[in-house]
Order: sequence, then structure tokens, then C-alpha cells
Amino acid sequence: MQSNLFELFRSRFPADRSRPFIEVPGGATLSYGELEAASARYAHVLTGAGVKPGDRVAVQVDKSAEAVVLYLACVRAGAILLPLNTAYQSDELEYFLSDAVPAAVVCQPHRLSELEALAVKAGIVTCVLTLGAKGDGTLPERAKGQIEKYPEGRQASAVIPLLWKAQEQNGGWLPQKAIEAVADQLGMPHIRVLEVATFYTMFQLAPVGKKAHVQVCGTTPCRLRGAADIIEVCQHRIHHDPFHVSKDGNFSWEEVECLGACVNAPMVLIWKDTYEDLTKESFGKVLDGFASGNPPKPGPQIDRQLSAPVGGPTTLKEVT
Ligand code: FES
Repeated sequence: MQSNLFELFRSRFPADRSRPFIEVPGGATLSYGELEAASARYAHVLTGAGVKPGDRVAVQVDKSAEAVVLYLACVRAGAILLPLNTAYQSDELEYFLSDAVPAAVVCQPHRLSELEALAVKAGIVTCVLTLGAKGDGTLPERAKGQIEKYPEGRQASAVIPLLWKAQEQNGGWLPQKAIEAVADQLGMPHIRVLEVATFYTMFQLAPVGKKAHVQVCGTTPCRLRGAADIIEVCQHRIHHDPFHVSKDGNFSWEEVECLGACVNAPMVLIWKDTYEDLTKESFGKVLDGFASGNPPKPGPQIDRQLSAPVGGPTTLKEVT
């Protein structure tokens, strides 16, 4: 059984994705592979703008290949596309917006300010994007974003930042669908992106704690300086075993290899910040901070400046 409508559509795509999907008047062709990648990029922008499964996306754009891509992107994001006739005037649009309360609006570029004002008038807080028939507008611009930083032919290098973004947008872990969407965006085989996601410990493949996923360094310098104590606190306060979410769903932990802050051992990484020079007590305070939504300042948890010697400088104290 297909998990959503997009999967049903995709199951009918030909194995050879270079085959044409749409031939646009004037000679341009959109292949199935390009359709797959472009719909993943647009879906990524929509979810990044806050569109969640079941939300509506109001669309008032010209009939074009880009509009088909947008339709597939909505389906892919689990959103409901609300098509609005391009002939509708302000009164009609205001009625539809206030009635449907869409999470996002996509309109023709020249109607952006009108739709933004109508969204405010209709009392809805929503994101308004634009899409022109020639692939112009803010939606395609945002979709290029991260990928455009890489040279032509090297777009696959964006795989790590895109996976990281997808993980941030999905509560700290990567479901298979997110990995596949990143692969489609970059035109890479799904298995290649899965290889990356499984290789790096920065990517999680199962749900983690909502407030903190603690990665405890267990490599030699940290072990010698008390990593076992930190793991004991995790076992006591979170769960006896790694990769299990605490009863309240807020915390999880795992042991990882060296995270590059050995001089301040022992240490943990929580999301993108490190907490260093830990003791059982100070690590407990770090967890308390995350539990109350007020995490402590990252870095050393003792009176040490960055990785300078404890107690202040020990060399070059005199200038001659
Ligand atoms: S050994 Fe723990 S950070 Fe390097």
C-alpha cells in the first residue's frame, strides 16, 4: 500500500527518469527526474515555511509546468492544494483565504503585495510566496538556496547541509521519507544519501528526546577524565540504554566517538552545542537547564576560558 498520494504517483514514474514528463510549448522539456527533484525542493520550502501535513496551501498561479511541480510538492508535503482562479479579484480572494485559513499562499509574482495585504486583512498569519509560469518568483529562489552555493555538477555536495536542515525541521531525527526527499532534491540515488545519514553520528535515524538528545563522548581522553560518570547520569536520568527516549519523551542519549573537544574532557554534544569540563553535578545542571527550556551557556562548565589552561595562563606571562 502507498503511504501517500505522492508515493502512488511516483510508483508510476518510469524507471528511466530521463524520459520526458512534460513538453512545454517552445521546446523545453521537464523529465521525470527533474520533476522529482523540483517537487522535493518546493516541498522543502513549504515545510520550512511551516506547512504541516493536513494544512492547506492556497495557490493562484498560471497553468504551467511549474504549477504541476507545485501541485506535486504540496502532495509530497502532505498538504492540501487549494486552487484559486487567476481571475479572482480581491473580494473573492479575501473570502477564500479567511474561509480556508491556508498555512501558505503561492501567487503570481505581480500580485504579491495584494495577496500579502489580503492575508493580513483576512486575519490569517501565513507565508506568501510567488511562482511565475517561467519558474521565476520567491518559491523557486528559496528552493535553489543551499544547492546554489555549489558549482554546477557538484550539487550532491549539499547533501550534509540539506540532511541537517531536514533533521532540524523534523524534531531532531531523519525519517526515511526525509532522506528520500533530500536524495530527490539532489538527483542522487536514495541509497547514497542513506549511506551518508548512517555514517555520521550527527544524523539520527529514530526519534530522539524532544528537549535534548545527549551525545556523550566515550573516547579515551574523555574516558580518563570521567565520561563513565556522565554516562551513569544519563542512565539514571534518561534511560538505562542508549537510543531510548525517556518516559516523558524529552530526553535521549548515546555514546559517540571523539567530538574534538578532548582538551576540555569530559564533554557532551547536545544538538549543535558542546558542554565541556563536566562533572556529575554540572552535567545534571545542564540537563536541568534543557528540561526547563533554559539551557546553560555552551562550552566549559568551569571557570576556564575556551580551551585555555585552567586557572589562567601558564606561559608567556612576562613580556620582555
Ligand atoms: S576524546 Fe572526548 S572529545 Fe575527544
